Amino acid sequence: MLKPNKLANKNFLSSLDITNDEFFHILELAKNFKNKRLNIDLDYKVLGLIFDKASTRTRVSFQVGMSRLGGTTIDLNPTTSQIGRGEPIKDTARVLSRYCDVIAIRTYDHSDLVEYAKWSTKPVINALTNLEHPCQALADFLTIQEEFLDFKDVVLTFIGDGNNVANSLILCGALLGVEVRIACPKGYEPNSLVIKKAYEIYKNKDLLKISNDPNSAVLGANVLYTDVWSSMGEENKKTKKDKCFSGFTIDNDLLSKAEKDAIILHCLPAYRSKEITDEVFESKKNRIFDQAENRLHAQQALLSCLLA
Ligand code: CP
Ligand code: NVA
Repeated sequence: MLKPNKLANKNFLSSLDITNDEFFHILELAKNFKNKRLNIDLDYKVLGLIFDKASTRTRVSFQVGMSRLGGTTIDLNPTTSQIGRGEPIKDTARVLSRYCDVIAIRTYDHSDLVEYAKWSTKPVINALTNLEHPCQALADFLTIQEEFLDFKDVVLTFIGDGNNVANSLILCGALLGVEVRIACPKGYEPNSLVIKKAYEIYKNKDLLKISNDPNSAVLGANVLYTDVWSSMGEENKKTKKDKCFSGFTIDNDLLSKAEKDAIILHCLPAYRSKEITDEVFESKKNRIFDQAENRLHAQQALLSCLLA
């Protein structure tokens, strides 16, 4: 088994900041946290949270996770701290490094996260940027592993916007060798550099498919995954996107074309009758709340590695 301290003091800005072995190690630790077979004491370590965007799951799972590990969190609201007044990232990062042991940041531009990490002397975690949502992907693959036991022969189909969540699924798919299909309307494909990187990593290049046809993308799929059509910060694009994404709703018809054992994942929050129908959301195929719970276990595993 990999030694946990391999990840000590490292940043987790991207799914590609960990190796395949480290990914499996985090999943193993997460399962042990979930089954209460692991008792790690973070000994009053402090996690700083900077959320420039709204959050329920990420914020609460980090807070609860840290508290269960014997550590604590401080939530830096940008409107009541000097962050909102425009204090330079390089100053905020150097100051917070003196108080906190690790910092999780949710922001818009990925380059701002990279800037924090450049100036922080403590590990920085990506709690979502416009480019990636790697903490979400840890929980996603934990949920898939719980369902199918291993990733061999699993086909994961993401229907919707080629957004941060889709980008992270692609990168993790490449890292783990899982077949990932993305079906999105023309012009809403995932980030081209992410796709390029993923193809460089995949040993079998056929395992990543980007298309504009949800009907063929779900054939043989074991996991149907979707997310909002308009991400945070895209409120002004909503009307246009709602029109473009017609035909990309996961409904019973689309679900019936997937494998019989197919499960439904959604990172949440969800908009019923947009990316998913209420019927599918509430069906017995739903593993969405296990997935949400797994955010807690996966992030406890991550924190215990970074702070080892
Ligand atoms: N999935 C997710 O990141 O949820 P929150 O926006 O509530 O944190
Ligand atoms: N793609 C969504 C994910 C929310 C958890 C967003 O960025 O708003």
